[in-house]
Amino acid sequence: MMSSVKVECVVKESALIGEGPVWEESEQTLLFVDIGGQKIHRWSPSTNQIQSLETGESVGFVVPRRSGGYVAGVGRSIVAVDWSTQMMTPLLEVDEDKKNNRLNDGKVDPIGRLLAGTMGKETRPAEVQRQQGSLFSVNSDLSVTKHLNQVDISNGLDWSLDQKTFFYIDSLSLTVDAFDYDLLSGHIGNRRVVYRMEEGEGLPDGMTCDADGRLWVACYNAGRVIRIDPVTGVRLQTVSLPVTKTTSCCFGGPDYSDLYVTSASLGLNQSEQQLAGGTFRVTGLGVKGRPSTSFTG
Ligand code: BGC
Ligand code: CA
Repeated sequence: MMSSVKVECVVKESALIGEGPVWEESEQTLLFVDIGGQKIHRWSPSTNQIQSLETGESVGFVVPRRSGGYVAGVGRSIVAVDWSTQMMTPLLEVDEDKKNNRLNDGKVDPIGRLLAGTMGKETRPAEVQRQQGSLFSVNSDLSVTKHLNQVDISNGLDWSLDQKTFFYIDSLSLTVDAFDYDLLSGHIGNRRVVYRMEEGEGLPDGMTCDADGRLWVACYNAGRVIRIDPVTGVRLQTVSLPVTKTTSCCFGGPDYSDLYVTSASLGLNQSEQQLAGGTFRVTGLGVKGRPSTSFTG
């Protein structure tokens, strides 16, 4: 097969744990977070400018909000972010009984509900006190529904094209799972494994569903993103990156044909991997992604 896949490092500024990329269509910018560096970044491909906001605590995700600005997961709080004034307003807290937990990945479902998960305290990268995390949804009235507890590292999430399946990663299980998803009630059920990581594929981290219904999964500690078919459980493609700690990915660009991949540098010797912590763009995949949904709350 002819391959014109190209990988380039587009944001060289090194994040401790670059994560949670999301393409903001209205601004044509890439939003992402640096969890350990406690920052939200907004990068414009056309100007190559990066704007940043310090969150003061770890920040697990950021997503656009329909009423304007963003919503982010800072520590155990969901906060509203006004980008123009750089103001953050706390909206609610999760895991009040687990003060050492922090929010990790989060994403907005097809009707504007936010799903986000937590994890316990990490002593070293990917070493956590197990089963401390949870998975929640935050409805538009800001009420919270808890779906799961005993999660190790709540990570990647996305929905199938028909909106009836919710894909979810608890990293230490080394699997990508699926649930039946009831879009109206937000209820999840019938959990099953759709993909088991193979030898050398590391830990599954962030993921995104493309316009063909296939999942792109960032493989933490394995320097790659894999494309899997959640229906057959088959890995269709592997894209290698020049850094080992690939953390998450999303499609973006004017027609959603560029795959953006974030990475982490925490725990690595920077001289071994100069681009560790950078953000990468993969072009020439011949696949498109889908626009992100904004949070309605
Ligand atoms: C977490 C990291 C963790 C990594 C690997 C990331 O989503 O934020 O703290 O080390 O996943 O599981
Ligand atoms: Ca992640």
